[in-house]
Amino acid sequence: MAASLETYQAMSAEELTSRIQAVRRRMGPELLILGHHYQRDEVIALADLRGDSYQLSKQAAENRQCRAIIFCGVHFMAETADILVNRPERLAERSGFRVPVVLPDLEAGCSLADMARIDQVEACWAQLTELFGPEQVMPVTYVNSAADLKAFCGRHGGIVCTSANARGALEWAFARRPRVLFFPDQHLGRNTAVRMGIRLEEMAVWNPQAGRWGGNQPEQLRQARLILWKGFCCVHQAFLPEHVHYFRRLYPDIKILVHPECMKEVVDLADEIGSTSRIVRLVEQSPPGTRWAIGTEIHLVNRLAKEHPEQHIYFLAPFVRMCRTMYRIDLSNLCWAAEHLADGAPVNVIRVEDSVAQYALLALERMLQVA
Ligand code: 13P
Ligand code: SF4
Repeated sequence: MAASLETYQAMSAEELTSRIQAVRRRMGPELLILGHHYQRDEVIALADLRGDSYQLSKQAAENRQCRAIIFCGVHFMAETADILVNRPERLAERSGFRVPVVLPDLEAGCSLADMARIDQVEACWAQLTELFGPEQVMPVTYVNSAADLKAFCGRHGGIVCTSANARGALEWAFARRPRVLFFPDQHLGRNTAVRMGIRLEEMAVWNPQAGRWGGNQPEQLRQARLILWKGFCCVHQAFLPEHVHYFRRLYPDIKILVHPECMKEVVDLADEIGSTSRIVRLVEQSPPGTRWAIGTEIHLVNRLAKEHPEQHIYFLAPFVRMCRTMYRIDLSNLCWAAEHLADGAPVNVIRVEDSVAQYALLALERMLQVA
């Protein structure tokens, strides 16, 4: 019988690793361990699949074999997996059996996702509908958001996007309605829109703390095609233009590679922008001797540097920037979760209510159709 979490915390890394491997052997393909690129090395080494948010969602949507998922990532990712893996058609195929999706630490959230709450988005929506009339604005939520915001998008004809398909999702949205409300990450929205030829004057920022009209004059909103929620990721917002200038002065041949959650001033100076998987792919495809400064979470950058000693890989900031919530998943809570699952007594199961999942699924299915 699996023990308490404290018992696992006292075990060595070797013991935890071999116990997790024993669970993997015992459960075989029935257990799927998914790992986001920002996870610690020792955790990612035990994942069956690693990827960015888009790939991990797709894998959860497509897998027909697994009977349990452990998600080594953050809360919104586990919610998304639960909605996709337990959608009605899949439940019917399994005669109603629900695949438990386990998040080894329930405190592994995302501070960016927390910057938009459903009551704030509903209040914004009511004001935009008052200004523009019904069905004039398309809601687009970044996947880094709670399930009820994805459901909001599903109910109002909108879509979810990830950093890998944000452009496709915005094009999808603008093909259907003249304006878009994009939440919660202003940077991903702005960086993507600029690359589609949308001018900054055609964008407004909605500050949910600023009262009526989100701190804008109605006229500013009327001129805007894209209304950006004032949210940000504190890990990525810390990269600054001066960090790019520093590396360019030091190494004139350096290539700057950043995640689109970085601010526009940094992204505009970069050579390449991409989701975490695109960052991995670009490094993998580069010849020996390539020099990179990478602006994303430190565990991924350090892993790339270790896996590619033939290249020169630097972290694009003079200080450590890590995602504290991704870091919460470790060998002890992973082992604790895995052994409970193997014993048929899953812990930390993430279960999205049916009334929310039903609408969130609509917006996620649209997301999966947009490359
Ligand atoms: P990716 O979808 O690019 O992996 O990004 C997820 C994330 O949380 C970045 O901070
Ligand atoms: Fe959220 Fe930022 Fe962490 Fe990504 S890096 S999970 S956006 S807090």
